Amino acid sequence: MKLYHNAASPFVRKVRVVLAETGQSVDLVDVFITPTAPGDAVPAANPLGKIPALEREAGATLYDSRVICRYLDDQAGGRLYPDAPRLWETLTLEATADGIMDAAVLMVYESRVRPEEFQFSDWVEAQWLKITRTLNAVEGRWMSHLAGPLDMSHIAMGCALGYLDFRHGARDWRAGHPDLAAWFETFAARPSMVETGPA
Ligand code: BEZ
Repeated sequence: MKLYHNAASPFVRKVRVVLAETGQSVDLVDVFITPTAPGDAVPAANPLGKIPALEREAGATLYDSRVICRYLDDQAGGRLYPDAPRLWETLTLEATADGIMDAAVLMVYESRVRPEEFQFSDWVEAQWLKITRTLNAVEGRWMSHLAGPLDMSHIAMGCALGYLDFRHGARDWRAGHPDLAAWFETFAARPSMVETGPA
């Protein structure tokens, strides 16, 4: 299987952490794309022009990260998605973490892709407000879930927080979120997280 990959992408990191946690491997195809320069290979695999995309020996190419992670977990026997009703919490917390990643990546694209004269600081701050509001909700509502057995939402939240450190470290997401910060310190030490750190 071929995974379209970029070492900075938190969505790709989710997939790599699942691979490590479930003892599977794929061939990595490094791509360097932006929304305005998607190249040829990625749109051929995923018409949305986004990574990760997983090309399989047989069957459709899979995207996005949620579908790929679920597929890989299913291939490995299905440990990362609990049964309902806990499943609904897991999927919602994974979506919450993905939303943090979406906003954090958009902030990066605003300064990297958009010409300086069109950059809109109010819009960037609105993304950060979305992130802090969501971190407040996780700190207030989701810590008991994160204290439970490893599931896909833990991996997604770990990758989201790792990306905040990587691209938005100066904004200090830990301030006001001591329980989440303590959880992340332990989670980030897992071998699957250490070996997939963003670059
Ligand atoms: C980044 O450089 O931050 C990045 C690269 C690929 C996908 C998302 C983010």
